[in-house]
Amino acid sequence: MFAAMLLCQVLLATAVFAIPTSKERFAQRLARRAGGFNHQSTPRQGVESAPVDLEVNAHDNVSNTLYSTNWAGAVLSNSTATWTSITGTFVVPTPKEPDSASGPHYATAWVGIDGYTCQTAILQTGVDFAVDGDNVGYYGEHHDYPAIPFVHLQGADRILRAAAWYEWFPAYQYYFSDISFKAGDTVEATVTATSKTGGTATITNKSTGQTVSHTFSNQPSLCEYDAEWIVEDFTEVGVGLAPFANFGKVTFTGPTATTNSGSSVGPLGATLLDIEQNGQVLTNTSVDSSSVTVQYIGP
Ligand SMILES: *[C@@H]1O[C@H](CO)[C@@H](O)[C@H](O)[C@H]1NC(C)=O
Ligand SMILES: *[C@@H]1O[C@H](CO)[C@@H](O)[C@H](O)[C@H]1NC(C)=O
Ligand SMILES: *[C@@H]1O[C@H](CO)[C@@H](O)[C@H](O)[C@H]1NC(C)=O
Ligand SMILES: *[C@@H]1O[C@H](CO)[C@@H](O)[C@H](O)[C@H]1NC(C)=O
Repeated sequence: MFAAMLLCQVLLATAVFAIPTSKERFAQRLARRAGGFNHQSTPRQGVESAPVDLEVNAHDNVSNTLYSTNWAGAVLSNSTATWTSITGTFVVPTPKEPDSASGPHYATAWVGIDGYTCQTAILQTGVDFAVDGDNVGYYGEHHDYPAIPFVHLQGADRILRAAAWYEWFPAYQYYFSDISFKAGDTVEATVTATSKTGGTATITNKSTGQTVSHTFSNQPSLCEYDAEWIVEDFTEVGVGLAPFANFGKVTFTGPTATTNSGSSVGPLGATLLDIEQNGQVLTNTSVDSSSVTVQYIGP
């Protein structure tokens, strides 16, 4: 956390002396207007079994689906240190605002180790995607200044953005500034723990083979209890859950988790999670031996 704040200060200090380009000034303006929140992927919150007040439950008779306010997807969990690597490939979706909602909406897809039962650290990497139908400006951009990680995906009337990131919770998300994504790109995300306090986060554009990677060291200790493929409603630090986008569907293919004894495990038998907010189930997660699919089923 301290390192994150320090880096932020260094970036802000740099910003004072650099002459900003018009693109950077635009980002600054948006960040000021939006209050400049940091994005953070957080441990899963509030897991519970099917809410009793849900009349129609997408998962009737699927005993292993649980509900969370922020995580949807599949988790392999063990009570001893087990997982050292996890990978998955997905296509960056085209997010929309939920029906009759407006303003910026967000979601993020990632792979990670811990955060489910072990909530003190998470090693993770993925891609945020956002839609801003009213073009009022996104949150969270000051943190990445002077890099502009989000790229415009469509015309100014309906702006879509996506950005690849890495995080070792409890630090914030950091964006990879030297790779950018758009809807329809195929992304492979992998994290590997080389120890409980260090490892790598790697994002590859499967279409071009372009790869970016971040190496962590001296981080808060992982438990290596959980390996997961997740679509999350991430947190605006100091504010709460970001407005959640209708992300359509994210399918993780080639989902593989590697154990400390070197064996590879797929998602069959994983615990499934769906996002429920205000009594409404917003996602429908399913798995088979070669994929994890999270579908948006909210308004
Ligand atoms: C959830 O997904 C499963 C598997 O694809 C499907 O059979 C089911 O109809 C879906 N339920 C809803 C509510 O979308
Ligand atoms: C769930 O299982 C019960 C008992 O087997 C059955 O009566 C019920 O119709 C099932 N519900 C669905 C949605 O399949
Ligand atoms: C889970 O932990 C147990 C030890 O408690 C171990 O025997 C088992 O192999 C682990 N599961 C996997 C998938 O490695
Ligand atoms: C990924 O590759 C596709 C196809 O060549 C390209 O259109 C896209 O911009 C690339 N994205 C990144 C992040 O390099």
